[in-house]
Amino acid sequence: MVYIGDNLDLYRHIFRLMEEGSLPLKQLTPGRGVTPSELATAANLHERWVREWMYQQASCGVLDRRADIGDEATFEISEAMHNVLTDQENTRFSCGMLSGFPFLMDRVVALPKCFSTGEGLTYDDGGVNVATAIERQHTKDFKHFLVQKVLPKVRNGELLEKLRSGCRIAEIGCGAGASLVALAKHFPKCEIHGFETSQHALQRSKVNLAAAGLLDRVQIHDVFSNPNALATNGPYDFALCFDVLHDAPHPDELMESVRQVINKDGCWLVVDIATCDDRAVDMVHKGGKASMYFGISLCLCMSSGLSAPGGMGLGTLGFTKKVARSLSEKAGWSDMITFTVSEMPTNSFFVFSP
Ligand SMILES: C[S@@+](CC[C@H](N)C(=O)[O-])C[C@H]1O[C@@H](n2cnc3c(N)ncnc32)[C@H](O)[C@@H]1O
Repeated sequence: MVYIGDNLDLYRHIFRLMEEGSLPLKQLTPGRGVTPSELATAANLHERWVREWMYQQASCGVLDRRADIGDEATFEISEAMHNVLTDQENTRFSCGMLSGFPFLMDRVVALPKCFSTGEGLTYDDGGVNVATAIERQHTKDFKHFLVQKVLPKVRNGELLEKLRSGCRIAEIGCGAGASLVALAKHFPKCEIHGFETSQHALQRSKVNLAAAGLLDRVQIHDVFSNPNALATNGPYDFALCFDVLHDAPHPDELMESVRQVINKDGCWLVVDIATCDDRAVDMVHKGGKASMYFGISLCLCMSSGLSAPGGMGLGTLGFTKKVARSLSEKAGWSDMITFTVSEMPTNSFFVFSP
């Protein structure tokens, strides 16, 4: 139902009606919120549908029930909830994944066959809406945290200095390109390359780079049609993977191919989903969030990781320190350092050195 509120812009409408004081009876009936008919009029929708949705949202705590007016119930949305659900650049925004759930749920009907064959659906089988959900969910991380909070922690700030002086960057699994935009804006002297297999994400990255006026500063490569693109455009001083390794069918091959194109004093920053080696993940993701991650894994991440022959299928919570160490040693990386970032508690951070 959050998808409905997002898609029809209902949260914003409720907030605006409350904020603008445009409710005619507000002064006469203190403590009242927005009625279903007011919301329906503002959004140009049918009242009966809006009313049922408002009751549903109040019963799960997204909206708050306020004083009735005669026979009509009224509802409001808190400012905090409004930010979480409508402001893509707010650090607490969560509506990217939430509103993407219907597209993930669509895939559930195909899963019984996957359980029989063992083969997963590809990332792109979810259509452009899956790529867009990830894009919306991560925009805040790239805008507020990647350069400001994460990069200063890599090699005690040495990487930041190198990026400011100018060097060669590769982002593998660059998605819709929001991280490329952040990197290009902050480090104008760098040569930046983005690599992606998803056709939907590639399309979105071109749109986003064009909107930011950065198409001539960043080179995007389609790894699906040109699997050697990373090698032929290397070497690089800095490589980045954000939320990619656990999705990739062959994280072992990715480890090897990045190792081959990193300069000897360069490094690779891998950001993944926080997890732990003994799978006591409820301790890491409290309040039932682990169950959400396993669900996302079945519908998207593990499925994507099993979508190519011999895929490892690590899944959303599968890129543990133990897995990272084992794969990186096999691929010839000599060092692995991990750190945490308090503003991004649901992520884990790894720096690999050649
Ligand atoms: C969860 S998305 C994250 C996208 C982006 N990094 C972000 O955080 O918004 C994972 C991405 O990794 C891409 N991917 C997986 N394996 C890849 C590979 N071997 N090379 C390039 N991209 C890959 C997928 O197509 C997908 O777009």
